[in-house]
Amino acid sequence: MAKRATPYVPGLQLNEPNIIKLNTNENPYPPSPNVMDAIKKEGSNHLQLYPSSTTVDLRKTIGEIYGLTADEVFIGNGSDEVLAFSFMAFFEPEKKIRYPNITYSFYPVYATLFNIPVETVEVNADFTLPTDAFFNSEGGVIFPNPNAPTSLYLPLDEIEGIIQNNPDNVVIIDEAYVDFAEGSAARLIHKYDNVLVIQTTSKSRSLAGLRVGYALGNASLIQALIKIKDSFNSYTIDRLALVGAQAAFEDRAYFDRVTNQIVNTREDVIQRLQNFGFSVLPSQTNFVFATHETYAATELYAALKEARILVRHFDQPRIENYLRITIGTEEEMNVFFEKLKDIVKV
Ligand SMILES: Cc1ncc(COP(=O)(O)O)c(C=O)c1O
Repeated sequence: MAKRATPYVPGLQLNEPNIIKLNTNENPYPPSPNVMDAIKKEGSNHLQLYPSSTTVDLRKTIGEIYGLTADEVFIGNGSDEVLAFSFMAFFEPEKKIRYPNITYSFYPVYATLFNIPVETVEVNADFTLPTDAFFNSEGGVIFPNPNAPTSLYLPLDEIEGIIQNNPDNVVIIDEAYVDFAEGSAARLIHKYDNVLVIQTTSKSRSLAGLRVGYALGNASLIQALIKIKDSFNSYTIDRLALVGAQAAFEDRAYFDRVTNQIVNTREDVIQRLQNFGFSVLPSQTNFVFATHETYAATELYAALKEARILVRHFDQPRIENYLRITIGTEEEMNVFFEKLKDIVKV
């Protein structure tokens, strides 16, 4: 019996034509063309063989980006799987962990599934994280940086304070959106043995459909994750995903171009939303979190859906009047604002 499971509810994936999807923080641009070339080649040659169970080549490639060795990198089937394995490896049923009360909604799902008690930390009035409230946790800490769905970035010196003040516990920084932000906590890995950084290829590398996420941390934390994975499934990453992700990491110029484009579009979108009377939190992600002074978020959500534009709304205290809007291509955002003109009268 699935006694403890309360599943996560992902954003709508409507496979209908002419829908502009700004609701699941996917990248609006395709991956590097080298990804498809690598996948085609691998697909026509090796699919009869099991993939690497150690994923060592990809671990080495990712490690090099951050000055880490393959022993300091773990690969999983999307960062959701890496998060699930991390809950299993580092958090214990008797000890309360802490995460913000407004955050990625998969954390409560894993806490329930793995029977881990939680003390949620109330975010500040401006939705920033109260750093001190994460000090001296009983069983560990996890939060996204930048946070989701608020899009706010916590500076690394504050993160360092949280790590220093949890010396006996693991602090997990979920950096799904960090490539659109100031910088990664990966630089703290050689300084502290209790920090685990989790990233994904789903956002900045346009590979949400391939399912490759990864953790960066000292070798003993990575070893603990490998033990969980190998007690569960030797081959969590298939051959196509391994070579596709490899090609994406190797095409640095493409990655830089796409992330810069999204950041530029984001700044333009924030300005245009403000012109329509929205307040927008200072985003360091590929989405914005916005509220309107006169139009209710539920009303805007419904009107946009009617106009075939999907955004995300969370029916949750304190953020029920906000919309999370993924940054699309410039053309998609132009259509978004055209439709908004019919909905919001300024
Ligand atoms: C904060 C955060 N962490 C993790 C993920 C999971 O990403 P994936 O499993 O695609 O790597 C998401 C996806 O939206 C996210 O918003």
